[in-house]
Amino acid sequence: KMEQDLAQSLQPGWLGRWEKKIRHLTPGPLIGEGMFGQVRRAQLSTHGRRLDVAAKTVRVEDSQSYRDFYREAAILVAVHQQRNGDGRKSHIIQLVGLITKSVEKYILLEYAPKGDLLGFLRRIGNINEEDLLGNLLGYAVHIARALQELERLRIAHRDVAARNVLITADDVAKLADFGLARDVYATTQYVRANRPGVDELLPLKWMALESIETGEYTCESDVWSFGVLLWEIATLGKDPCYDGRTQLSFLQMVGILRQGIRMKRPPGCPEDLYRLMRACWCDVPATRPTPEGMEKRLMQQR
Ligand code: ADE
Repeated sequence: KMEQDLAQSLQPGWLGRWEKKIRHLTPGPLIGEGMFGQVRRAQLSTHGRRLDVAAKTVRVEDSQSYRDFYREAAILVAVHQQRNGDGRKSHIIQLVGLITKSVEKYILLEYAPKGDLLGFLRRIGNINEEDLLGNLLGYAVHIARALQELERLRIAHRDVAARNVLITADDVAKLADFGLARDVYATTQYVRANRPGVDELLPLKWMALESIETGEYTCESDVWSFGVLLWEIATLGKDPCYDGRTQLSFLQMVGILRQGIRMKRPPGCPEDLYRLMRACWCDVPATRPTPEGMEKRLMQQR
């Protein structure tokens, strides 16, 4: 079904407005690399102007990464197609264009000069700024809005985590990486699936219990991951840990979560914020907060 949707959304008509010419792209330095693809900073010339972009490529030999590439392209096209001036800015990374007609294929995204939220959190770790948490919760509000956009489109992101949030030049947090991210960043966070017939690397410690057990992803499972993202914010980018352990196998993770064990309240984390995380980690998906509810609760805590 997904594949069909993808094929459909990538029909020439749909794509026409996004397709760019490879000769208008000037590749620059590598800013991310993984097993299946690369991200380069690049410049796109359009109508005599030069625009900074992040250009994501795919290595053509691999069919899984090819699927991920087209999945990401289709989702971004859908997201930016649907936006019809509801007055609110999108909190999903802006698609600039696609290059699909040359041998080398690219997804072109707005360039986010401040990099990803995880790196940002780790860099500010030693700065003692006043109201640091309040400012960081502003980013969380942005991502709660991104989840509302996805909910309206009935799209699950599947990999909500600080490493997949980008900070733009005007200090807005945007959700990114709808498919390739898992290879581009800290690969050690992805554990091989332990289900028959499934061979993929999974971001175990960000995943809802039901996603680990059944491989199903929903907007509610994204909310679970958002709770882990809040934990990353509250710890300024620590590696999620259960019982002091950061390296957990598939079966250990299932065992821990089934027993009802959850991550502890980080030192200095306000009770309200921890309560919100815990609500995201409810084992019944329908009882987790909605993205809209989370935005409201976060606004109150800032
Ligand atoms: N890394 C991955 N995507 C990026 C983007 N859009 N801007 C900056 N760095 C990135």
